[in-house]
Amino acid sequence: MNLPPFKLERYFAKYEFNTQFLLCSSDCEAMSIADLLAFEEGAAEKFPQLWLGYTESQGSLALRKEICNLYPTLRPEHILVHTGAGEAIYLFMHAVLTADDHVIVHTPGYQSLAEVARGIGCDISPWLAHEENQWALDLDELRRLIRPNTKAIVINTPHNPTGYLMSRADFDALNKLVQENNLLLFSDEVYRESEYDPATLLPAACDYGEHAVSLGVTSKTYGLAGLRIGWIATSNKKVYENMASLKDYTTICNSAPSEFLAEVAMRYRAKLAGRNLKIIQDNLTVMDDFLARHSNLFAWTRPRAGSMGFPRLLKGDIEDFCDKLVTQVGVLLLPGTIYDESNNHFRLGLGRKNLPQAVERLEEFLLK
Ligand SMILES: Cc1ncc(COP(=O)(O)O)c(C=O)c1O
Repeated sequence: MNLPPFKLERYFAKYEFNTQFLLCSSDCEAMSIADLLAFEEGAAEKFPQLWLGYTESQGSLALRKEICNLYPTLRPEHILVHTGAGEAIYLFMHAVLTADDHVIVHTPGYQSLAEVARGIGCDISPWLAHEENQWALDLDELRRLIRPNTKAIVINTPHNPTGYLMSRADFDALNKLVQENNLLLFSDEVYRESEYDPATLLPAACDYGEHAVSLGVTSKTYGLAGLRIGWIATSNKKVYENMASLKDYTTICNSAPSEFLAEVAMRYRAKLAGRNLKIIQDNLTVMDDFLARHSNLFAWTRPRAGSMGFPRLLKGDIEDFCDKLVTQVGVLLLPGTIYDESNNHFRLGLGRKNLPQAVERLEEFLLK
């Protein structure tokens, strides 16, 4: 299989560890192992005693039980733990797709959600997010995209990079449409539980039935990207077994220390999500003020969930702007061209504590 470079990851590889302010991160503020262990009495004493042998390939039962609390209709045997969400995307595509298949993918989006299927040889149709409609997807357009050889629909809500959150009515209708057409729904829910209004939390797609696979990870809402613990949740036995069987060729099983820490994290996930949501909301206030002060230069649709927004630069060229910003004042933004999106947008990250200082730097740069 021939995979082109993952543009976003290559861009971060260049800047992430040598730039003072990352103003475009998708993950929320992380914490130390000690801070995480302090959530649970006795955890700090147990952690150094952990056995460092191989772990259960599907993920430890204790961790899968915790993850299962996200999905009211599922049981631990429906959870398959991976090394990050990235591995799960890769394995899902290889487990279910062949070169003759057609796949419909929420666009713009996280590159691997389309690229791995394209690498397998599938025909990809973008299901376009409409900026003029708060980045919404249109179900009538989806109906028109379905072909006799369509195998799967891939969506991501809450969405990277726009912060779009599908409505409950549309999510219900989407699941029904997928079921009626005998398709698979790959639902990337890695930003779930970061909705600004808790009433807008959607059910997980996997709780609608066997047609759906939900993707989760500790990296984003819970702010623990360094654990590299992701998972899929599905009651579809065939998909589960095919993915489990492929995993023997990638990582076999997960890191034991990460599984232990992820189990603690998932037990206290409401606390972690609450802490990160507070950071996001404080940062949104700063961004609202900043963008109002510079409305001649930026336009944006305020996100409804997650740790990102996707504003548009109204003057100049976004790649040039981002390049000057990072080299002159050490503030990293992500040009929308990384998403093959050429409308002068850029990704703004809302989950880091130092956002107010980064915005100060950005403002100094603008006023220079
Ligand atoms: C929508 C989406 N899915 C999956 C991933 C992969 O997550 P991880 O890097 O933790 O494996 C990301 C990371 O940015 C993402 O934004």
